[in-house]
Amino acid sequence: MRHKALLIVPALLAVAIVPAVAGLIRLATLATGPATASNARFFAHPWPVTLHILAVVPYSLLGALQFIPALRRYHWHRTLGMALVPLGLVAALSGLWMTCVYPWPAGDGRALYVMRLLVGTVMTLSIASGVASLARRDYVNHGAWMLRGYALGMGAGTQVFTHLPWFILVDTPPDEVSRAFMMGLAWLINAAVAETVIRTGGLASGTNHQRQPTVPRLQAVRGDGI
Ligand code: HEM
Repeated sequence: MRHKALLIVPALLAVAIVPAVAGLIRLATLATGPATASNARFFAHPWPVTLHILAVVPYSLLGALQFIPALRRYHWHRTLGMALVPLGLVAALSGLWMTCVYPWPAGDGRALYVMRLLVGTVMTLSIASGVASLARRDYVNHGAWMLRGYALGMGAGTQVFTHLPWFILVDTPPDEVSRAFMMGLAWLINAAVAETVIRTGGLASGTNHQRQPTVPRLQAVRGDGI
């Protein structure tokens, strides 16, 4: 099982890296310019996209570590989780804000707009459900909801791969229907992978996390409360 866990982080980082780098490039462009017709919406309202990128970069890169079973035995998981929850919420809510306010760039259309509203909402509710499960000490559902939220957010990374064949094989930019299909397919793939991991018990492997919450056990040893 340990070798499986070792594969999780590089696989998730491979998905996260392109949007993270793209985000940092966007921040650099916002700081230094130039403003053009294609990025005018970001210059008109720089704060939502800046907040979005400052949240999604650590959320997508560090979030990968939360799924390593061995690391859940330590306070590390709880400390990092307390930072990742607000970051995930800022990522989803700023994404929703941009969906509602930014004018659509060429290629975006109604279908993509509706999908983004749905994804941003379900991601927000998943993270909230993950926190609520934690308050009930329901660690199984906590992991499942956090994975659902993370997987939906990481659609941004899978979208790089679903667009690749188009960019390799077709000379023109995708039209609204093709773009909506490639974006939606990525969210579907991530949701399907998350549900498979949850249903096959992949989250709990390697630890007794499911039955015995680790934090109370550590606290019992140290004698402190929550
Ligand atoms: C952790 C997951 C996410 C990552 C890594 C991510 C990454 C990014 C990046 C790098 C940008 C800047 C794109 C550019 O410079 O052209 C961006 C923009 C955007 N994101 Fe996200 N995002 C994530 C989650 C979400 C979610 C959940 C939503 C859904 C509501 C969303 C909606 C948007 C929108 C609407 C834009 C502006 C797109 C545009 O006008 O071109 N993002 N995202």
